[in-house]
Amino acid sequence: MLDDKRILLIISGGIAAYKSLELIRQLRKAGAWVTPVMTGAAREFVTPLSVSALAEEKVYQDLFDLTDEAEMGHIELSRSADLIVVAPATANLMAKMAQGIADDLASTLLLATDTQVLVAPAMNVRMWDHPATQRNIATLQSDGIRFVGPNEGAMACGEFGPGRMAEPLEIVSAIEAEFEEGPLTGRRILVTSGPTHEPIDPVRYIANRSSGAQGTAIAQALSALGAEVIFVTGPAEAARPTHARVVEVETASQMLEAVQGVLPVDAAVFAAAVADWRVEGARDSKIKKEAGGLPSLSFAENPDILATISQMTEGRPDLVVGFAAETDDVIAHATAKRARKGCDWIVANDVSPETGIMGGTENAVTVISQEGAESWPRMGKDAVASALADRIAQTLAD
Ligand code: C5P
Repeated sequence: MLDDKRILLIISGGIAAYKSLELIRQLRKAGAWVTPVMTGAAREFVTPLSVSALAEEKVYQDLFDLTDEAEMGHIELSRSADLIVVAPATANLMAKMAQGIADDLASTLLLATDTQVLVAPAMNVRMWDHPATQRNIATLQSDGIRFVGPNEGAMACGEFGPGRMAEPLEIVSAIEAEFEEGPLTGRRILVTSGPTHEPIDPVRYIANRSSGAQGTAIAQALSALGAEVIFVTGPAEAARPTHARVVEVETASQMLEAVQGVLPVDAAVFAAAVADWRVEGARDSKIKKEAGGLPSLSFAENPDILATISQMTEGRPDLVVGFAAETDDVIAHATAKRARKGCDWIVANDVSPETGIMGGTENAVTVISQEGAESWPRMGKDAVASALADRIAQTLAD
C-alpha cells in the first residue's frame, strides 16, 4: 500500500500516455496522492482534464505560469514529493535528463530535484536500441535513476520488441518497492566489481579474468534488503545492477579514486579483481611490431584499494569485506590475506580451473572473520550474494 505517499507523476508525450490514466487510478486506489505534470507533447495524447479528474489534483503544465508559481514554485514542486515517476518517459525526455537540459517544466523539475526518480520508458524499438538511447540509460542509471520496463511486445507503431511501457500495475509494484523497508534501509554500501584494465598502449591492456557476475549479484542482494548501493565497476561483461548507483572505471587508480569519492559508507565489499600491476609509461600511440624485436614492459605496483580502505584511521566503514580468489591452500592464504590487508572478512574461493567457478554461475566460498573460517556449500552466485547480504545486515545491526 502507498498510504499518503506523494507521487509527482510526469507524463511525457507518447502513445503510452493513455496508460498513465490507469496508473493514476491505481495509485489513488493504493492510497497515494498524485500531482500530475504534463509536457506539451503529452497533452496531444491525453487531455489535462482527464488527468486532473482522475488525480483529483490540478495538472502542472508550464514553467512560466505565474499562478502555479504563486501556489507552489517549481523548485518546491520538484522536492515536495516522496517519489517522482516519469511514465511514459520518451527517448527525448530521457536524453534531456541525461544531459541536464531544462527547457520545459518537466525537464526543469527533474533537474531541480533531489528526490528519487523512477522512469518507465516507452518508445519504438529502434529508438530504444539506438546507441544514443542506450548511452543515456547508462548515464541515468549511474546517476541513480531507477527503471521499470520497458516490456517486449507488439507496439502501436506495428513493430515488435522492447519499448512498450510497463503495465500500470507493474509500475505500481515498482513504486511500492521503492518504499519497502528492509534490514539495510538507510545504510550506504559500496561494492567494487569486475576487472580493471591497465593500458599498455591505446589498443592493448593487461587485466585479471573477471566476469563481474558475483559483484553484480552482491549489489542486487544488498539493494533487495533496502541498502543504498554504490557500485564501482571496471569493464566487466556482467549486466549492471538495476538499483545501484553505478560508477564505471577502467584502471585500478581510477577505481581507488572513485571509491574514495563515495565515502563515507557503512560497509564496503571489494569483489573486484583488481590488476596488481600497471604498465609503467603506458604509450599514447600503438606500439608497432618491429621485425625481430619484442617490446619489453616494466611494471609498477597498483594501489591496494582494499588495504587502503581497511587501514583508514578516520571514517573507515564499519565493515570491510575482501575477496580472495586462490588456487591452492585457500583457507591458509585467505586467513593471511585478512590479517595483511586489515579487513574484517575475507570471502575466499577456489578458482582452480577444475572447479568451473571462474566465469561460471556457481560459487563455493569460505567466509573468514575474527571468529574463524565458515565454509558454505557450493551454490549459485545469487544465493552466495544473498547469504552474504544477510550476514552483512546482521552484523551492521549488532
Ligand atoms: O591481493 P589480492 O588481489 O588477492 O586481494 C584480493 C582482494 O583485494 C579483493 O577483495 C580485491 O577486490 C582487493 N584488491 C584491491 N585492490 C588491489 C588488489 C586487490 O582492492 N589492488
